[in-house]
Amino acid sequence: MGKSYIYSSVTKKVIMSLVGLFLITFLLVHLTINLLLLFDPTRELFNVAAHFMGTNPLIQIFQWVLFGGFALHMILGVILQVQNWMARPKGYKKKAASEKSLFSRFMIHTGILIVVFLVIHFSDFFIKAKFLGEIGEIVYNGHHYEDMGLLVIEKFQMLGYVIFYVIALLILGFHLDHAFQSAFQSLGVNHPKYTPFIMGFSRFLAIVITVGYIFIPLFIYLK
Ligand code: HEM
Repeated sequence: MGKSYIYSSVTKKVIMSLVGLFLITFLLVHLTINLLLLFDPTRELFNVAAHFMGTNPLIQIFQWVLFGGFALHMILGVILQVQNWMARPKGYKKKAASEKSLFSRFMIHTGILIVVFLVIHFSDFFIKAKFLGEIGEIVYNGHHYEDMGLLVIEKFQMLGYVIFYVIALLILGFHLDHAFQSAFQSLGVNHPKYTPFIMGFSRFLAIVITVGYIFIPLFIYLK
């Protein structure tokens, strides 16, 4: 393994980690806005927040940063995985596998499934709202908004859709469980004192995000 390989691989991991942490921040913001839908029968809070996210010029710029971030994270993930497979000496495979945690071994697989979920998610909500104009309108205080909340509620009244989301979100949870602590390791934060805390916090965050998202389709379906 040449030095240049090690350096480039470390650089890729650092970039992936920073982008990954940015994506986790997005997930928290997205979750907060989506949860607004559950506690407000008029859907005003959610629709106004979605409208703000969809029209604010600064957030529009960030949206492209977000899409670029997703793309970069995926491309680097695939490259790193392929390099890993190529660099692994014969007979090492079994040992490496037993040393790693369960979820860390499936990052590429869970990652690919998340991409499949995102394609479906985009065609259901984002593309319909942005490009097809298929969303109904609703008026609050004389202002017109797209009724994105109604679309979400209609989708989650279909059992098949709810099952698909719950499975996809569990897969996302497995991915996140390893992602956060791995990001800190790639960034060089590795200390006997702090690592146990980071591992625990990583799991806590993965559980909060996963349970929070899963709560949405289940709540809407069962209500
Ligand atoms: C119950 C779960 C979810 C619901 C109800 C939901 C709902 C929505 C809706 C309504 C939109 C379009 C309008 C908007 O921006 O508000 C959207 C966009 C988007 N969603 Fe989700 N989402 C969920 C889960 C996820 C997950 C798990 C991810 C990432 C892995 C994700 C990533 C995105 C992205 C990247 C966009 C486009 C960017 C944006 O418009 O903010 N969503 N989602």
